[in-house]
Amino acid sequence: MKQIALQDYSVCIGNMWAELQNVVDFNSVSKCFVLVDSTTKEFCLPKFLELSRLKPDAIIEIPAGETFKTIDTCQHVWNELFLNQADRQALVINLGGGVVGDLGGFAASTYKRGIKFIQVPTTLLSQLDASIGGKVGVDFLGLKNALGVFKNPSAVFIFPGFYETLSDRQLKSGYAEALKHALIADKNMWEEIKGISDLRSIEWVEFLEKSLLIKKRIVENDPFEKGPRKALNFGHTIGHAIESIALDTDSALLHGEAVLLGMIAESFIASEKGILSKEELQDITDSLSRYVDFEFDIQNRDMIHNLIKGDKKNEGDRIMCTLLNSIGQYAINQEISLEEINRGLNYLEKQFNLKNA
Ligand SMILES: NC(=O)c1ccc[n+]([C@@H]2O[C@H](COP(=O)([O-])OP(=O)(O)OC[C@H]3O[C@@H](n4cnc5c(N)ncnc54)[C@H](O)[C@@H]3O)[C@@H](O)[C@H]2O)c1
Repeated sequence: MKQIALQDYSVCIGNMWAELQNVVDFNSVSKCFVLVDSTTKEFCLPKFLELSRLKPDAIIEIPAGETFKTIDTCQHVWNELFLNQADRQALVINLGGGVVGDLGGFAASTYKRGIKFIQVPTTLLSQLDASIGGKVGVDFLGLKNALGVFKNPSAVFIFPGFYETLSDRQLKSGYAEALKHALIADKNMWEEIKGISDLRSIEWVEFLEKSLLIKKRIVENDPFEKGPRKALNFGHTIGHAIESIALDTDSALLHGEAVLLGMIAESFIASEKGILSKEELQDITDSLSRYVDFEFDIQNRDMIHNLIKGDKKNEGDRIMCTLLNSIGQYAINQEISLEEINRGLNYLEKQFNLKNA
């Protein structure tokens, strides 16, 4: 097992079941609840109960999927906690992807002014992206993560054995986050991981540790996202907009898929601005394109522009973005224009031979 120590909790990776038991014992909990969604109930809960040997007081189930990351679902979790007489010493273990982790963390942080929770993320994306940083919350009025707080869990436990039931598409979406970590902070790691095509052959424990150490370094320098933490938004200004327009279509994109496209377009913009070399742009484009085996549509430029104009990273009317200076080095608060965004999108169209290119 590998352990990454953060300021007030640890992330344990690999065969972490004994340590999970220790953390539960150490917190002298009155009652233990496991939160699952309908899919992780089927695929992850049996494994979790067998390997952890925990005997939860109740399993709380929510429907699977982002559409259920709402205050209504949260209310269901609060109800279940009340019905099961959870007091302030109760513990919630969130067993699932980012939706279960964000919603369960938020429900626990607000129940009776806050009870403890443990994250057991079961998708690669949530393990890499949500296990460090203390962000929990729900979507509201169609806006992602509009309600939430910063609250750290008591611990995070990452078990790569959960990938057995994860689709290749989900695995690749999570892998995009590792590629992002390498691009913003670790050129050597980029060279090691940019060409891996058989993701199932990866030695996950070392891989996850390396990638999470990058996130730890960035988040610990800036816990409330005032400065350097914006580095993690690389690929997200354009990526989020592409993800949002795909949401209402038959071909919704996974988060990591949209971020792959965002990273290519934003690297083009950095190269046009003269801050990223043409050679590195080519390397990034060639390497990331290998993982783009899905269809996407970026024709509705007005909608993309409007979404980007509403991005919470902007300063007034100025669209602010994180760009790369070079592979392994980022620059935050870079202003980009709608024309530059258009050219970045044109570059994507050309790269993938889309209709209007
Ligand atoms: N808190 C943070 O810092 C942070 C960071 C990144 C993303 N997020 C949030 O995470 C969410 C996206 O995460 P996600 O991709 O994990 O989504 P998700 O939780 O919806 O999981 C995706 C799907 O995979 C299923 N699943 C989970 N584990 C599985 C397994 N081992 N085998 C088979 N199926 C499994 C889930 O039931 C779900 O249907 C978004 O809501 C995003 O906002 C939060």
